[in-house]
Amino acid sequence: MKKQVVANLKMNMTSSEIKNYIISLAPKYKDDKVELTLALPYVSLELGRFMLDGTTFALGAQNLSDEERGAQTGEISGAMLKDIGAQKVIVGHIERRVKFKENGKTINKKIKIALKNRLQVVLCVGESLTDKNSLKTISTIASQVDEALKGLYENELENIIIAYEPVWAIGSGKNATVKEIETGIKAIRKAVENDFSKKAAEEIGVIYGGSVNAKNISQISSCRGLDGVLVGEACLDSGVLMHIMTAFAGGAKK
Ligand code: PGA
Repeated sequence: MKKQVVANLKMNMTSSEIKNYIISLAPKYKDDKVELTLALPYVSLELGRFMLDGTTFALGAQNLSDEERGAQTGEISGAMLKDIGAQKVIVGHIERRVKFKENGKTINKKIKIALKNRLQVVLCVGESLTDKNSLKTISTIASQVDEALKGLYENELENIIIAYEPVWAIGSGKNATVKEIETGIKAIRKAVENDFSKKAAEEIGVIYGGSVNAKNISQISSCRGLDGVLVGEACLDSGVLMHIMTAFAGGAKK
């Protein structure tokens, strides 16, 4: 798969700010070795759709409802996201698992709805510090992958990218080491192999997220089997995001 950089803007910019952000980003982006997805807040998706038209950037959402339609005040459906031009959607981010009490079942429902609406899914999995300290990294990843992908057909995996996001590395300034990332990638691929097949495990896109920045991107891009990165805080500066893209395109291994 094409190398991926997913920029998760979270709840950080108004639409006016995003407009300037995209203006400052688009002309700087020259090569197409890496696909950049801008995961915007819902209210900026329409703006994103118009501004990204004619660029190689993809439009992403940060969440979707686990119901298809109906009495779900304040929620946004997969069909609404597709209709407004979103191509990808993040599911299972730790901020949603913890703050919004999303569990494996909810995440599985969201993935099925996203796929039904022809949205690509960026599924986030990763262990907490407690899991890490009690040597449960691999088993935590395996159970999160199992729960999230339950009931899917193998051919649906081509529309899923799995992000290894150790909880302790997100927003902490403490990125995982190359060895830790490679362990996470292997655990994800092993879980996919157990649930589907060796072929599926080899082919599924796996990216890393957690305190990725301009300083550590070269090292992170050297991880074996890594197809991209998910960037939070650092993507808010368009110059830094461009640096991350260029460094990842240059440093990524097969
Ligand atoms: P961070 O966020 O880059 O700020 O650690 C990553 C994420 O939330 O996925």
